[in-house]
Amino acid sequence: MSLMTTNGYICSDLQSLHDWCNNQSLTQQMLSSNYVSSRTHKWFGYEVILKPNPIIKKGHWDEKVNRLGNLILPGWDCALLCHYYPGGYMTQHRDHSVFEPQLVLVNIGCATLCIDNQEHHLEDGQVISFNSAIPHELLPVKSHRWSLTFRKIKPQYLRF
Ligand SMILES: [Fe+2]
Repeated sequence: MSLMTTNGYICSDLQSLHDWCNNQSLTQQMLSSNYVSSRTHKWFGYEVILKPNPIIKKGHWDEKVNRLGNLILPGWDCALLCHYYPGGYMTQHRDHSVFEPQLVLVNIGCATLCIDNQEHHLEDGQVISFNSAIPHELLPVKSHRWSLTFRKIKPQYLRF
């Protein structure tokens, strides 16, 4: 049984999504990660500082992210844009328990994702979902690649 579901593909908007990603990377608002090499990131919706006691604060706001998130994961709380430079990767991990495990990810560029050691080759524009509590890793990317990951935060962590 596949641990990953393909929800669909970004089609007509794919070039503008690439342009948007490139622009985001040029804004100087993409931060380097303490944990991951050759990767920068930016939070939309809520930003989550991933500590044992996570800190949740307001992230960036963007009309394109809102529209896409409302379409592919209604009720999403945060969207994390990651830019992996050539050679960038993510070692095997489980996502923080502050998040609902099921996430929806838009793959921009090409990538190979391993979920519980099952390899999945992701196409440009492919929209997938999987249970991020299952160990997963990103193999080193060959060219610039972005992911825009929509997640829900578990209600017990949300304060209004
Ligand atoms: Fe992850």
